[in-house]
Amino acid sequence: MIPIVVSIVAISTLITLWVRSRKGRLPYPPGPPAEPLLGHLRALPKSYDEGAYREMANKYGGIIYLDVLGKSIVILNSEKIANELLDKRSAIYSDRPSLPFHEMTGLSNTLTLLPYGNNFLKTRKLLQDQLTRKKCTLFNDIQLAQRSILLQNLLLTPENFGFHTKRFVTAVVLEIAYGRKVVADDDPFLVNAEVLDKLIAETGTAGLVILDFLPFLKYLPPWVPGAWYSKFAQRARPIIEAVKDYGIAVVQHDVASGKAQASFSSLHLEELDSEKRNSKEELDRLKWTAFTLYSAGAETTWSALETFFLAMVLHPDAQREIDQVIGHGQLPGFEDQDNLPYLNSVVQEVVRWCPVIPLGMPHRVMQDDVYEGMLIPKGSMVLGNLRVMLTNEEVYHDPFTFVPERFLPKPDGHGEPPPNVAFGFGRRVCPGRWLAQSELWIAIASILSMFDIKPIQNDKGEDILPLPEFHNSITSHPKPFQCRVLPRSYKTKTVIEQL
Ligand code: HEM
Repeated sequence: MIPIVVSIVAISTLITLWVRSRKGRLPYPPGPPAEPLLGHLRALPKSYDEGAYREMANKYGGIIYLDVLGKSIVILNSEKIANELLDKRSAIYSDRPSLPFHEMTGLSNTLTLLPYGNNFLKTRKLLQDQLTRKKCTLFNDIQLAQRSILLQNLLLTPENFGFHTKRFVTAVVLEIAYGRKVVADDDPFLVNAEVLDKLIAETGTAGLVILDFLPFLKYLPPWVPGAWYSKFAQRARPIIEAVKDYGIAVVQHDVASGKAQASFSSLHLEELDSEKRNSKEELDRLKWTAFTLYSAGAETTWSALETFFLAMVLHPDAQREIDQVIGHGQLPGFEDQDNLPYLNSVVQEVVRWCPVIPLGMPHRVMQDDVYEGMLIPKGSMVLGNLRVMLTNEEVYHDPFTFVPERFLPKPDGHGEPPPNVAFGFGRRVCPGRWLAQSELWIAIASILSMFDIKPIQNDKGEDILPLPEFHNSITSHPKPFQCRVLPRSYKTKTVIEQL
């Protein structure tokens, strides 16, 4: 086995060197020294190791080039360069790299990982058209109903705030996708979503798993020792397929029995029927798109809500404005949004302080490109290091501290730019960003108006502050921490009980 691996690595390196020698003399962007044959295999952290990526950024600057076993990787640490390439040159930077491991699991069928092309464009339109800023207001009632359940759950078992917030975001996207109201904790949709999240968490950072560099490993049969990827895919694929099929099957049943609540799936099923486009291909696209709504939409928004709880324990004092504008003991509604600039900044700061997807999703450049005299070869995987961009000291003052007022205009705040890059770039920018922001806003505004979030205390009554540490995989989450979630007064407790 080892001689085969070595020969394949050697041949691919020789081919790369040959191709490179024929490409003229333009230099690649800077990067650490490469090792013979392996290139930067050992220099590239395979999961998001924040320290290692930051060190590389400090040493080599806004754009870095790595060569891992003949594959070109470009890491962008500067927002300016990322906007220049991934936004302005989006026509050639909107592909996704081929991801053999995700292909084996079936997850490469989700919009998030689809290669650029016809299927991508059709799928993206299907989802994007329903999630425009304006259309997202149609989901406000769903969010408000789930907000009531969230607040009641927090009152009953505040120590389970992580579970309750996850349930909130999942229930919202499930209802949008399939029109099913999640009422009980053992709802099959909720159970499926949980199973799926666990599987996705195991798949690692797309583009950086070893199989992405040594795709022939996928041919190892599951019984060969060390063939973890084949074994995982054999277990995961049927589950993923079943979860994807289940949602649409339920909606088809609801539509047939006249019980369907209008949803992303029911509307599109009707459209397919009326236009007689109900082909397997169209139905499959619809199944994967509905599935993408919650595979991409729940875990991400949940991560931001967990970060919010951590930020409130460490940096309280976000409630004054709510009390002044809507009054103590009153529940905010979406109509209050324009009158609560500080609260809006809290939501932005949550997204900036700990970007949910620290390395973004990998883009792939579809043709050779040149940036400031440096060659970015066709096929390079291009990663935006969002965490480094959003903690750039030249843009954000005191970037590691949670400071919502940084976004308020001067003189009340620092007039710093909004953290738009947290949602990605160009034609692949997050289509769920408006939905995510409205979900975060209503949850954060409601929790702050009804609860205090405080540190736990030791026997002497002294506060024990959690460390702001994050577990980073494809998404980033605060490491487990405890806090006290207390109703702010008898009045707020009564308001929640009466919801
Ligand atoms: C705080 C919450 C969220 C954050 C920070 C976030 C962030 C991101 C980022 C960074 C990307 C990669 C963009 C790129 O490739 O440049 C992305 C893609 C995506 N997001 Fe979000 N997202 C959030 C919530 C949501 C929600 C609620 C949905 C859907 C309901 C959603 C659906 C998607 C999809 C489908 C993609 C793939 C788009 C494509 O490849 O064309 N996201 N998101």
